[in-house]
Amino acid sequence: MKKISIFMLVVFLVGVIATGFAQAPKFKYVGVAKCKMCHKGEKNGNIFEIWEKNSHAKAYATLATEESKAIAQKAGIKGDPQQAKECLSCHVTGYDAAADLKDISLTMEEGISCEACHGPGSAYKSLKVMKDITAGTVKGADFGLVTPDKNLCVKCHNTKSPTYKEFKFEEAVKKFHHPLPKKG
Ligand code: HEC
Ligand code: HEC
Ligand code: HEC
Ligand code: HEC
Repeated sequence: MKKISIFMLVVFLVGVIATGFAQAPKFKYVGVAKCKMCHKGEKNGNIFEIWEKNSHAKAYATLATEESKAIAQKAGIKGDPQQAKECLSCHVTGYDAAADLKDISLTMEEGISCEACHGPGSAYKSLKVMKDITAGTVKGADFGLVTPDKNLCVKCHNTKSPTYKEFKFEEAVKKFHHPLPKKG
């Protein structure tokens, strides 16, 4: 009797742990090229093009400038800022995410791309899910979609940035506002 109940307890615990793992979200970063497929061009609101012109798209390239090298040297970082975790953590998308949560299509060259603000896209990027989220029939959060707010921005826009400029959310968002086209 006793043996059986211990056995049952073990079965129960394994079950709980397994369900826990199955439910743990495993959203992967897929890279900007995937978002571009559907979010580029006039009829889609030029969202990709607006991002591409914004300084976030250049965040990795910036780390190759003489200014960056000087900043890194001053901070006591040896070597190339494009390889320094002290700089990359805020200058590329998903830097701190585990390797298995980054698809090979995500590149450092794309700098701060869509998923740095909207969350890793592997589950929400399908056309059906995207439409369902916009229509409000499913919750974006269940598919990894993040609603970008001030708290998200200040993960990078804070005094740990060696070039910190005072951050005002409303003004900052206006600089790269990229709405979906109005439906006519
Ligand atoms: C297969 C095409 C497709 C891909 C790939 C895609 N999207 Fe979308 N996305 C859409 C469509 C269609 C809509 C809804 C547009 C509408 O209804 O006006 C949408 C809506 C959105 C919305 C608004 C959701 C809301 O809350 O209403 C966000 C944010 C978004 N996409 C971000 C992304 C990001 C980031 C990526 C890349 C990881 C991506 N999309 C990839 C087609 C796509
Ligand atoms: C993962 C880090 C990260 C996040 C999150 C982030 N940014 Fe940035 N942002 C940067 C970096 C890095 C730069 C500088 C890029 C460069 O010049 O190379 C930048 C630059 C900017 C600039 C241009 C600054 C200037 O004065 O030239 C604006 C505006 C801005 N971000 C707004 C925002 C807003 C609004 C949010 C939140 C919705 C946000 N950022 C989220 C890292 C981030
Ligand atoms: C630095 C953060 C940041 C980056 C990078 C970024 N977005 Fe956004 N996105 C936002 C914020 C904040 C909003 C809501 C406010 C706004 O657009 O004015 C938004 C809104 C959107 C919307 C919804 C607009 C609407 O009308 O409801 C879509 C779609 C979208 N982004 C797609 C993308 C795609 C695709 C990319 C990459 C090509 C991208 N975003 C890059 C922060 C970002
Ligand atoms: C905590 C996040 C963070 C870290 C860490 C960080 N940066 Fe940045 N970086 C930013 C943000 C945000 C901006 C946009 C301007 C600002 O600082 O407000 C930026 C802008 C820049 C710029 C452009 C400055 C300008 O004229 O606007 C350079 C150059 C730069 N960073 C270099 C570096 C180097 C080199 C390192 C590593 C030693 C580094 N950053 C580490 C967040 C960060």
